[in-house]
Amino acid sequence: MSTQVAIIGAGPAGLLLSHLLHLQGIESVVLETRSRVEIEATIRAGVLEQGTMDILNQSGIGARMQREGVVHHGFELAFGGQRHRIDLTELTGRAITVYAQHEVIKDLVAARLAADGQIMFEVSDVALHQIDTDTPSVTYRHAGEARRLEADFVIGCDGFHGVSRPAMPTSQRQDFQRIYPFGWFGILVDAPPSSDELIYARHERGFALVSTRSPQVQRLYFQCDPNDDVNQWSDDRIWSELNMRLANHDGWQLKEGKIFQKNIIGMRSFVSTPMQHGRLFLAGDAAHIVPPTGAKGLNLAVSDVRLLARALDRFYATGKQDALNDYTETALKRIWRAEHFSWWMTSLLHTFKEASPFEQQLQRAELDYVVSSRAAATALAENYVGLAFA
Ligand code: APR
Ligand code: PHB
Repeated sequence: MSTQVAIIGAGPAGLLLSHLLHLQGIESVVLETRSRVEIEATIRAGVLEQGTMDILNQSGIGARMQREGVVHHGFELAFGGQRHRIDLTELTGRAITVYAQHEVIKDLVAARLAADGQIMFEVSDVALHQIDTDTPSVTYRHAGEARRLEADFVIGCDGFHGVSRPAMPTSQRQDFQRIYPFGWFGILVDAPPSSDELIYARHERGFALVSTRSPQVQRLYFQCDPNDDVNQWSDDRIWSELNMRLANHDGWQLKEGKIFQKNIIGMRSFVSTPMQHGRLFLAGDAAHIVPPTGAKGLNLAVSDVRLLARALDRFYATGKQDALNDYTETALKRIWRAEHFSWWMTSLLHTFKEASPFEQQLQRAELDYVVSSRAAATALAENYVGLAFA
């Protein structure tokens, strides 16, 4: 089998790239190890930057996001028993939409299949070949048969644990990484929202976040030991920990409910360069990971494939490879900005066991500055809603 662009991975990066290429008349095939049900059920963060909202709308798949997503014009920072609202729209003229990643995946799969797009689910043994030639190919097994997909380009959108990045010679790669000494304990709860906007809390017992999925389902997180065992956390213990970290002077109370899912998420910052080797290109988590504090993971994947789709369009329209060859350098500008912002938000809002009293005071001084200086609040806001695309 052959196509123009072979895409490995049906996460937001792979599916959106296939959709954008389709709109440009460029053929692609997506290879995914998991089933459609599995990818559409993977609970992941749900904060969409302005730029991501615009791309989904402009590419014709934003209708359900507009109907079911919730636009937030601000969020709250909570520390020292007080709340401070960051007015995103007043400070930047832009906003975010809270709409879960698996809902975006559902919309993308539906749009691809409605356009007769090719997504091979439940493939296995995916391997890349001749990526440093003009005729790369991907071998895989599907429905018990060995297959080969020939293409002009192979795009690795297979996440951090995929096969694409390792297919690049390590001698030519440089990886940058920071692993944080804590994780996030995430819960999904059947309950009404406890607040109209997200609450990011810094407390001496650790970070906490009040987020949402729908008027009926809430998503909350708190900083925990990354090696902790979810079974050690009874519902009562979880609620008392969240209430302690989110308590403030005006007697506000969390709305509790039935916790129907618990998981612990590891926290790392990671960037691998270059994002191209011959005819293989990486996008999304295959090339970079951010801690979830800045809600940048999905949005970075979207901005990578926006760049790649444009560069591939230019190649097929003009034969020019310049934009493709500039992809790594161009993408890394936005990636390192988001990496810095996500590291800064994580450093600002989490407690570090090894932090000295001096460092703890510095953290507090930074928090006080962010909520008292318009300039500092604007910097936070513009990074949070997402910088305009270059
Ligand atoms: N072959 C085919 N598919 C694979 C392989 C493989 N060898 N390995 C992994 N995959 C699939 C996974 O099953 C997953 O569906 O690739 C997909 C990668 O999707 P994501 O991990 O969601 O990565 P990406 O599309 O880059 O989206 C980044 O996802 O993890 C969140 O926070 C992250 O929001 C960010 C977004
Ligand atoms: C989420 O809703 O899961 C979420 C929101 C904001 C974050 C991280 C996760 O910063």
